[in-house]
Amino acid sequence: MTKREIIECLRGRGKACLAPTDDLFAAADAARKKYCGDEVHIRGVIEFSNYCRRDCLYCGLRRSNAKLKRYRMSPDEIVRVAAGAGSVPTVVLQSGEDEHYTIRDLDRIITRIKKQTGAAITLSIGERPALEYKALRQAGADRYLLKFETSDKELFKRLKPDSSYEERMRCLEDLRKTGYQVGSGTMVGLPGQSDGILAGDILLMKKLDLDMIGIGPFIPHPDTPLKNMGVGVRHAVHLRDKGLRVIALARIVTRNAHIPATTALGTIDPNGRQKGLRCGANVIMPNLTPQKYRKLYAIYPDKICINENFSDCRGCVERLIRSLGRTIATGRGNSLKSL
Ligand code: SAM
Ligand code: SF4
Ligand code: FES
Repeated sequence: MTKREIIECLRGRGKACLAPTDDLFAAADAARKKYCGDEVHIRGVIEFSNYCRRDCLYCGLRRSNAKLKRYRMSPDEIVRVAAGAGSVPTVVLQSGEDEHYTIRDLDRIITRIKKQTGAAITLSIGERPALEYKALRQAGADRYLLKFETSDKELFKRLKPDSSYEERMRCLEDLRKTGYQVGSGTMVGLPGQSDGILAGDILLMKKLDLDMIGIGPFIPHPDTPLKNMGVGVRHAVHLRDKGLRVIALARIVTRNAHIPATTALGTIDPNGRQKGLRCGANVIMPNLTPQKYRKLYAIYPDKICINENFSDCRGCVERLIRSLGRTIATGRGNSLKSL
């Protein structure tokens, strides 16, 4: 698809088969079935630290947010939680950019989780030097998730003042060269983001030939500079619909990348994840974080699953998958790119 066609589809217009939203969603669902099948992959997420050295304007974990009570899970605790998750095929280790954990610490955590569970490991711990990515890959990490957040360099600089678009791209390139399955993606509804920028995001997903693509609505956090950017029910509905269109278009354009129905989508609409899975998504990521830490991993407000534990969430996502007539994947859910 051309940029112009993508923009038309984002607006619910255009003749590229995609005039009414329902047609776009049906085309994306058919593409998901053709390129990924009916299986939905479950990835359990452990949010192991909410300390962060960065100051991204959009995120509740930013270092300037003095109101947030910070926590770190110990290496033993992280391994115990991962090992206690039963047969979850993928464990995602996510945190703020927290230099408290040395490469040696992370190496040991990864090695122990791998040995005890055999699960695939995805890291989502931000920007690091190439040598560190290499060491963590050698320790056994299989995948890495680092969203580019927006493909517009100026918007990136405004929203992520202590990083740069070029540095983010350098990290993604290093991760690819080091042999990770690479995930990236974007937030939808950022202040200053036009449909043209979103179309650029979708084309960048294709250009990077991503194995996984994370697309989530931006939800303003009250203790960040972007707190007043988009509130209210009408905004939430608009945001949800735009988010679903971006998922649908990402599926059509990239074909077989793994795309989750994100927790953020489930936060702005109680049925958001079901809707995502019906318009292109094929992954769901229940929360494995111990309950006592969940409310502290406050990237955005009113996150779902704060009062549940992992077995509640696992049962919930399994029911959700079956209710859509889909099957729960049993394999590790590796990249479909090399198949
Ligand atoms: N620190 C790592 C990083 O930034 O790559 C990983 C953790 S970070 C919390 C994970 C993702 O949260 C980011 O890539 C961003 O897209 C998302 N995020 C942050 N603030 C958000 C917000 N207010 N609404 C929705 N998503 C948000
Ligand atoms: Fe830190 Fe990631 Fe939040 Fe930015 S998005 S403040 S890097 S946790
Ligand atoms: Fe946590 Fe539904 S996924 S309760």
